[in-house]
Amino acid sequence: MNILYVTSEVARYAKTGGLADVSAALPAYLGRAGHDVRVFLPYYSRVDERGTTLEVVLRDIDIRLGNHRYEVAIVRASRPGDAPVHLVHCPALYRRAALYTGDPDEHLRFLVLTRAALEACGRMQFAPDVIHANDWQTGLLPLTLKVRYSWDRLFDRAATLLAIHNLNYQGIFGADVLADTGVSDAAHLFHQDQLREGRLNFLLHGILYADGIVTVSPTYAREIQTPDLGAELDPFLRARSTTVVGILNGVDYTEWNPEHDPLIPAHYSAADRSGKAICKAALTERFGLPHGADVPVIGIVSRLAGQKGFALLGDVAPELLRRHRFQLVVLGSGEARFEQLFRDLAAAFPRQVGFHAGFSNELAHMIEAGADMFLMPSVYEPCGLNQMYSLRYGTVPIVHRTGGLADTVQLWDPRDRSGTGVAFDHFTPEGLRWAIEAALALYRDPAAWRTLIENGMARNTSWDVQGKLYEELYRRLTVTR
Ligand code: ADP
Ligand code: GLC
Repeated sequence: MNILYVTSEVARYAKTGGLADVSAALPAYLGRAGHDVRVFLPYYSRVDERGTTLEVVLRDIDIRLGNHRYEVAIVRASRPGDAPVHLVHCPALYRRAALYTGDPDEHLRFLVLTRAALEACGRMQFAPDVIHANDWQTGLLPLTLKVRYSWDRLFDRAATLLAIHNLNYQGIFGADVLADTGVSDAAHLFHQDQLREGRLNFLLHGILYADGIVTVSPTYAREIQTPDLGAELDPFLRARSTTVVGILNGVDYTEWNPEHDPLIPAHYSAADRSGKAICKAALTERFGLPHGADVPVIGIVSRLAGQKGFALLGDVAPELLRRHRFQLVVLGSGEARFEQLFRDLAAAFPRQVGFHAGFSNELAHMIEAGADMFLMPSVYEPCGLNQMYSLRYGTVPIVHRTGGLADTVQLWDPRDRSGTGVAFDHFTPEGLRWAIEAALALYRDPAAWRTLIENGMARNTSWDVQGKLYEELYRRLTVTR
């Protein structure tokens, strides 16, 4: 199949979260499976070009959106082992300090990505069978294809798939951006009530017009069709229920594997975990904490956003840290209130809590390898990747039973010694306190702890399996078309 894959993040080039990991690993799998995949990503000034071969493949693509006009070039970036990435070069839009901005032209930054990808197909004579769009940034792609390219035989076979990695980021702009969409002549195809109320929601229009909708875990696929986690789009998702599917993300075990991870101080495997103790000592040292081989270390690596549930942790952490002997190492950046929370905890418990504010892939790997437990008390979690990385690194996940966390972490059951971690049901301080205390108690039971770790390390959520589910979905979509 010919697959056009449009995304705002790709790991090793530009990353803020899990979308990047998926947008690197899934296309790489599809390439290995023999498909022709063309990935399109903005050429942000922050794109990491180390080890990359760059080649300008298309120039002078003229994109007009309302009164705006952009000259775009396409730069093909390739690295061994990865699917090649087509970088959309448009400095006027992508030379910014961050991947995402609150600038007045934010909608244009991603409309240009969408249009450039479609225009480039024409210039490359690449006829996609499937166009795989990701999140709100590409939400207007299906509608754009229908309105602007319906004449173009190149797209006759193309089925559109919208992947929702997080329903709560919707790309909601003022209705005045309609003029900039490049499809304003089809204003009647936009959601009329919302336009009248002065809003234009990118993700909603993806949900309305994509041929297929996929989200990143089976449980989240159900949850987003309920008012509870539907972020006000649940009525639209329910209306298209037969086209909504959930496919759990895979893990790129070439990058996340303690047997050969180049970013950790010692390697280990399920059969011989001795290297993990070395990783733990290095981790506490890195965070400036005293080391005790028998003191459990809980790790966190996260965007510090409301979604991730740290407000709840703020309620229970001081008391738990006073009552129990354990350490907490945190890597994250984001909302100031959470950075402050962890800074305060580190100041109040200097021998127990270490906080590194920022983004560091190396430190993320060190924490996965060196911590004993990994905490993800997310309010909601479409898939979550870190808990799956943790399983492979023999680091026991403590999670709120929601979304992909519910699909990947099973509560330890002493009767049959099954389970891979601790999952709590009630998103309350009591729920979280119970989960952390349960994990700390299990740690004190060496036989149980060993089995728990072995169960987790034996789990395998590889893209070689999950990728096949995408191939099946693509086939179904193309047949329906
Ligand atoms: P989300 O996409 O919602 O942020 P995921 O669990 O799917 O959550 O993916 C997060 C990814 O981003 C993981 O690969 C994680 O290691 C990485 N990550 C998050 N925050 C940081 C950080 N501060 N430094 C390094 N990596 C981070
Ligand atoms: C989003 C979600 C996360 C998911 C990731 C990749 O950022 O918040 O749960 O794992 O996308 O699909």
